Amino acid sequence: MRITRIQLKNWLNFQKLDTGALGERVFIIGPNAAGKSNLLESLRFLRDVALPAGKKPQGGGLQNAVTTDTRGGLSKLRCLNAKKDTEVRLQIDLTSDDGTKWTYDLGFKGEGQANNRIKLSRERITKNSAVLCDRPDARDKADPEQLTQTRLELTNANAAFRELSHFFSETTYLHLVPQLLKYSSKIGGTVIESDPFGQGFLQRIAATNEKTRKARLNRIQKALDTVVPQFKELDFRQDKVTGLYHLEANFTHWRPTGAWQRENQLSDGTLRLIGLLWSLMEGNSLLLLEEPELSLNEEVVRQLPKVIHRIQTQNKTERQVFITTHSEALLSDSSIPAEEVLRLSATDTGTEIRPLDKQEKIMLKSGLSVAEVMLPSVNPAKANQLSLALSS
Ligand SMILES: Nc1ncnc2c1ncn2[C@@H]1O[C@H](COP(=O)(O)OP(=O)(O)O)[C@@H](O)[C@H]1O
Ligand SMILES: [Mg+2]
Repeated sequence: MRITRIQLKNWLNFQKLDTGALGERVFIIGPNAAGKSNLLESLRFLRDVALPAGKKPQGGGLQNAVTTDTRGGLSKLRCLNAKKDTEVRLQIDLTSDDGTKWTYDLGFKGEGQANNRIKLSRERITKNSAVLCDRPDARDKADPEQLTQTRLELTNANAAFRELSHFFSETTYLHLVPQLLKYSSKIGGTVIESDPFGQGFLQRIAATNEKTRKARLNRIQKALDTVVPQFKELDFRQDKVTGLYHLEANFTHWRPTGAWQRENQLSDGTLRLIGLLWSLMEGNSLLLLEEPELSLNEEVVRQLPKVIHRIQTQNKTERQVFITTHSEALLSDSSIPAEEVLRLSATDTGTEIRPLDKQEKIMLKSGLSVAEVMLPSVNPAKANQLSLALSS
């Protein structure tokens, strides 16, 4: 399944947003604080809503998704520019692998002053032309308490659209922070829900069955061989003493037989690349990637769109990927059509999508890349005054 369109109302810094048609790869660009992460956040939110209660330590579902520590309640989620209409609304269009068209439309508000709870103002689910759920409905009228939960999160109510619930709840968000992985035993402590920063990455590899794990690591080893100098072999082993799992890489340049190094000795870029490739091969649900260019050599970054496409098409079912990026190298790939790029632009009333103008369309037609055509307009106009602004 994949997402074909997202419409948001009063969501964080989007008072109103319509992405239009979306493809297998979605590149989200825009200046700092334009809302790139906030757009991914709408999909992470739906993942949390769709998780059945009990799947996470504090349980999934609408109430938890809104009030979780990282979101902090409706007042933080709702766009500060929300006017009279205070409803927060997320509308998602999707298509299954067999061509079935789905829509999920969720709206909610605060229940009232004395209460911190969230109440559904709408929940509508369609499958092709059939309406599977259109709330508030008779059941809600008979028992208004039901409006505190979505049908998406209720296993005993979502049989007709379980596929949809499942798709949302399987979404993976990855912003691998190598230091958290390298120093995990020293940092110890908290792993945030669903592990967005890859702290549990090694456990994820360990939990994969051996045959699949070997096949994936083998492919990653071949990939690393092309971009990491002197790299020879990649292995995944359990420490006999501690029982902990480690990624180990063998480099040829230290000794004739090579020298094995554990993840805490690997470079940030190597680790991020391993995490990225593994995630692309893992499962077929939605994958949200934050700035995959970080720590990577520009030539490697330049190859990422092709790498993503290659792995997508080799998977049994394609894994749709949303990518936030600032990288000129990444977007310079001539295979990226403008339709795959969402360009966010901040206005006085919230962030909007800035469509291509006439001149830009002509430039693209003449063969220029999206980096050349679309990036200059998102670069801050006054950036060249940054150092001047700091002079006393
Ligand atoms: N409820 C809200 N209403 C309006 N703007 C918000 C709200 N919550 C956060 N923001 C704004 O969203 C911006 C951050 O967006 P983010 O998605 O992190 O940007 P980036 O494009 O850099 O990833 C900040 O400027 C913040 O002020
Ligand atoms: Mg961001």
